[in-house]
Amino acid sequence: MKVTIDGIEIDVPKGTTILQAARMIGPEVAPPAMCYYSKLKTSGGYCRTCIVKVTKGSAQNPNPMPKPVASCRTEVMDGMEVQNVTSPEILEARKGVVEFLLINHPLDCPVCDQAGECKLQDLGYEHGSVKTRYEFKRREYDMIDIGDKIKLHMNRCILCYRCVKTADQFTDNRLHGVVHRGDASEISTYIEKFITNDFSGNVIDVCPVGALTDRTFRFKQRVWFTKPVDAHCKCDKCSGKVRLWMKGEDVLRVTARKDQWDEVEEFICNTCRYDRKKTADWVIDGPSPIHRSSVISQNHYQHLNELKTQVMKQQKALGFIPIEKRP
Ligand code: SF4
Ligand code: FES
Repeated sequence: MKVTIDGIEIDVPKGTTILQAARMIGPEVAPPAMCYYSKLKTSGGYCRTCIVKVTKGSAQNPNPMPKPVASCRTEVMDGMEVQNVTSPEILEARKGVVEFLLINHPLDCPVCDQAGECKLQDLGYEHGSVKTRYEFKRREYDMIDIGDKIKLHMNRCILCYRCVKTADQFTDNRLHGVVHRGDASEISTYIEKFITNDFSGNVIDVCPVGALTDRTFRFKQRVWFTKPVDAHCKCDKCSGKVRLWMKGEDVLRVTARKDQWDEVEEFICNTCRYDRKKTADWVIDGPSPIHRSSVISQNHYQHLNELKTQVMKQQKALGFIPIEKRP
């Protein structure tokens, strides 16, 4: 199926959504996504940040769609033409979406542990307005304790449902969800049960804002002062492929590795995340590629990856055997 997004044509398989097609073209045309997550089934459709304008429905029915559509939930039709960054109306409408998302979101970035990694912060900079028109008191929730590993800060939640879907699809027994309706909706553990499941820590990685953070890392360090490195270990519960966030020799945090869309590549178990906090627990693979455009990507060293590849090629050519593989 052929689809044209911002003037660039691409061939995609049937069933591909506009967002997926745009991602295949590249980050320059891909709409932002706050709730869609390619690794989670049925995600998307909640936040509206991914809206686009369909100027031609399909080759068969060339009529435009009457209003912006959520690209994460709209499948491509053959001959469809779509505008994202080339549509001033969409950019304006997206500003409105960001304004809505920020209505109840506290502006506590200076003290929030997610700063530098927050998708809403990035979205605000890239697509938001300079000023808010909102004059009312922001919605506030009482703090609830969901255990010693994960900190829930409900005031910051944008109700994207990613954590609920992660718990549903990657743990045996989901113990939390969205309760109530409308502006009273909130993430809660039913009858205050703690999230103890083996894969529950992944909700931290999928949360786009600072609503779910790692209690074992909170306030230890600003994330841009840490050095992310990819590492692996032999784990009987998960793939053991992780990202270590290091300061000197200390492992301050363990997370899953993320791809260029800032989505988890492979979900990791709680043992890797919380209990393996020594460098000796890991085999270091090398510096992590950082794709984010926020402050977190400063001082990182993508070029070292290339350097490492070059060195490894040379070592191979010279017959060099790495220490861990020597008999
Ligand atoms: S806690 Fe985070 S992941 Fe869960 S719904 Fe709220 S914003 Fe989304
Ligand atoms: S990413 Fe499409 S609606 Fe949220």
